[in-house]
Amino acid sequence: MQNIRNITDKILWVGASDRRLHLFENMFPVPDGVAYNSYVILDEKTAIMDTADSSVTRQYLENLTAALGGRQPDYLVVNHMEPDHCADIAELARLYPSMQIVGNQKTFGLMNQFYNMDLEGRTVAVKEGDVLDLGEHKLTFVMAPMVHWPEAMMTYESTHKILFSADAFGSFGALDGAVFNDENLDPHGLHSEMRRYYSNIVGKYGTPVQNALKKLSGLQINYICSTHGPVWHENIDRVVKLYDRMSRYETDPGLVICYGTMYGNTERAAEVVAAAASRAGLKDIVMYNVSKTHHSYIIRDVFRYRGLIVGAPTYNAGLYHEMEVLLSELAGKDIKNHCMGWFGSYAWAGKAVAKIKEWNDTRLHYEA
Ligand code: FEO
Repeated sequence: MQNIRNITDKILWVGASDRRLHLFENMFPVPDGVAYNSYVILDEKTAIMDTADSSVTRQYLENLTAALGGRQPDYLVVNHMEPDHCADIAELARLYPSMQIVGNQKTFGLMNQFYNMDLEGRTVAVKEGDVLDLGEHKLTFVMAPMVHWPEAMMTYESTHKILFSADAFGSFGALDGAVFNDENLDPHGLHSEMRRYYSNIVGKYGTPVQNALKKLSGLQINYICSTHGPVWHENIDRVVKLYDRMSRYETDPGLVICYGTMYGNTERAAEVVAAAASRAGLKDIVMYNVSKTHHSYIIRDVFRYRGLIVGAPTYNAGLYHEMEVLLSELAGKDIKNHCMGWFGSYAWAGKAVAKIKEWNDTRLHYEA
């Protein structure tokens, strides 16, 4: 059973969604699933843009077979070698023995690590600005190292002005029939899930994202075909601007208050802090109990709002474990340009507050 969609009359979406997965990368909740996008360009020469995750291989191969309509693909362009997109490379290489694989030097280094394949005579190594001519469609390669792996690149189709962006501009959330961002009423809050995807998966690499955006800045882009989430078509400027702001670590006025609490006392203190912030005129305040809300949602909002206040009790002569996890994850994201405060409560061991201060002093670019 095939399920394919047209992006243009000659470019087809052949991806698939996984709604059975609970945790993306075995870490991040995906209550609305996740889509693995791949595309086929039909021209004098035929190209496949990335593959898909092994969990959707069966659907993916049926889609691909239908899209190709009996043709042998000439090229597989590998923009990204993370396993959720490269899982089917070996199978495609076996199915289509005349197909050449297009990537950069680092792509093939990773491919050799992942697969025991003989690619002699089957690789096309490209570098910045190289053009692959398919006929009507011309593919220009844009290196995007560390967005968010070292080999990552994007491919710009210059005739119809379509950017195949790898993970960039990706989003959590399965596709519910629609493939374009303007086709449904956004029941999953795709902008919110795009923020959560960016902040948790790509967020550490703001500078490489900025470098990639600079390369794209002179290009007209009519469609952004990411490897996850919808194809962005309407309001592309808005999407690119959001990416620009997030990768500059720019924030909106607002406050995230997150707390650990064992018996509700630290939570009561958090409520007092929130009420004081509200009385002071702050409009956007969000509160999270770190034991109930996965840190990926909190990190999404920390990327969005300028203020962060954390509170926790002491546990095992240190920091309450769930808060330790959140702070560790935050430190790994290299977040900048925030205002931070902290508090705690204790009966007989007041170590938590000192631990939060120590974390702030040593690991983050925050203003206390
Ligand atoms: Fe969706 Fe970096 O892989």
